[in-house]
Amino acid sequence: MQKPTDNNSDAAKATEDKKTTGASTTSSTDKDKKDNSTDESKKTAAAEKGGTGDKSTESKSGSSAKSTSSAKTSGKAQSKEQEDEGEEKPLKKFFVDALKDIYYAEHALVEALPKMKKAATTEELQDAFEDHELQTRKQISRLEKVFRSIDEKAEKKDCKAMDGIIKEAEEIIKSTPEGSMTRDAALIIAAQKAEHYEIASYGGLVQLAITLGYDRAADLLDHTLEEEEETDYLLTDIAESFINFEAEEEGEEVEDDDYDDEDYDDEEDYDEYDEEDEL
Ligand SMILES: [Fe+2]
Ligand SMILES: [Fe+2]
Repeated sequence: MQKPTDNNSDAAKATEDKKTTGASTTSSTDKDKKDNSTDESKKTAAAEKGGTGDKSTESKSGSSAKSTSSAKTSGKAQSKEQEDEGEEKPLKKFFVDALKDIYYAEHALVEALPKMKKAATTEELQDAFEDHELQTRKQISRLEKVFRSIDEKAEKKDCKAMDGIIKEAEEIIKSTPEGSMTRDAALIIAAQKAEHYEIASYGGLVQLAITLGYDRAADLLDHTLEEEEETDYLLTDIAESFINFEAEEEGEEVEDDDYDDEDYDDEEDYDEYDEEDEL
C-alpha cells in the first residue's frame, strides 16, 4: 500500500492552511513543498487540466510553446479557481459519495453484528463478532474525522451492496440449525463477504485520497483498511482451526440418517409395489 510521504503531508498541510486562512502570502519553502507534493499525486489531473489552461495562456501570449511545468501550474491554478468558485471536481464528488457509502455500510454492520453474535454457536465466533462491532464503532468515528479533514459533512448514502450482504447473513441464520457448527461456518463466510466489500472500498478510497492530495484522510482510511484485513484473516483462522471440520462431521451424521430413512422408505414403496403387483 502506497503511503503518503512526510514531505507530502507537510506540503498538503501547508496547502490546507493556506486554504483555511485565506493567507495571501506563502513562504518560499512552503511553496516549494506544495509544488513537490502536487507534482506526483496530481500528475495526471494537472496534466489534463493543464491542456485547457495552456490554451488561455497561449491566446494571451501568442506563443505556441507548451512546457510540462507550465501545464501543471496552469492546471493547478484552474483547479484552485474552480474551488474558489464553489465548483466541485467530479473525482472529489465521487470520493465524497464513496465515503458516504462506506459510512452507511459501517452503520449497517454495527446493527447486524450483535445479531450475528447472538446467532453464532461457538464462543470464538461470538467473541470475534463482538470485537469487530467495537472496532466498527471506532471506524465510524474515524470516518467522521475523514469527513472533517476535507471540510465535508458526515452523511450516509444507501449502500445496496452491504444491505444485500447483511440480508444473506439473516437468511443463513434462518436456514441453518441453531447451535450447529454449520451455522458458524456459513456465518463466517457471510462476515467475510462484508469484510471484502470494506477492503475493496477502503483500498480504493486510500488511493483516491492520495491522488486528491488528502493526506490526513489517506492515513485514517489506511488504518481502517488494515483493521478490515486483520479481521478477514482472523475469520479465516477461526473457520480453519476447527469450525469447518466439525461442521463437516455434522453433515455426515445428517446424511447417514437421511440415507437410512430413504432406504426404509424405498423398502416400503417396494413392498407396496409387490402387493399391488400380486393383485
Ligand atoms: Fe468496517
Ligand atoms: Fe469490517
